[in-house]
Amino acid sequence: MGLRHSDHINDPPIVPVTFVMEDPHSLTGKDQPEVTVNAPLGAHLLEVALEAGINIEHACGGVCACSTCHIYVERGMDQISESTEAEEDRVEEAPGLQRNSRLSCQCDVRGKGPIVVRIPAWNRNAVKELPH
Ligand code: FES
Repeated sequence: MGLRHSDHINDPPIVPVTFVMEDPHSLTGKDQPEVTVNAPLGAHLLEVALEAGINIEHACGGVCACSTCHIYVERGMDQISESTEAEEDRVEEAPGLQRNSRLSCQCDVRGKGPIVVRIPAWNRNAVKELPH
């Protein structure tokens, strides 16, 4: 049976998101430094990354209670949801804070893209070094 014309009429629009990884091996187990995926509108960048096999740390499970999912938005800041006061307070705890720092679990894909995100090498290393 073939696809009916209406099968995808309610699918959310697709937005291109590129992840640039400073340490791709620790995030994906591979050495490919850049991955571009098609994200559904409304998804947050953490879940888009995880779906693509990019294991961004997310110690609190994506509820804005840690800063381990810290990323840099290099392109398309106006294509994602604005940061809230809670996110701004939390992201200040992240190492390597920059003007384009965001918490990936708090960034919903809103526009048409493209969106380019950099995942710093310490994304995983910082967590490994936390005392237990
Ligand atoms: S996973 Fe904890 S703030 Fe994003």
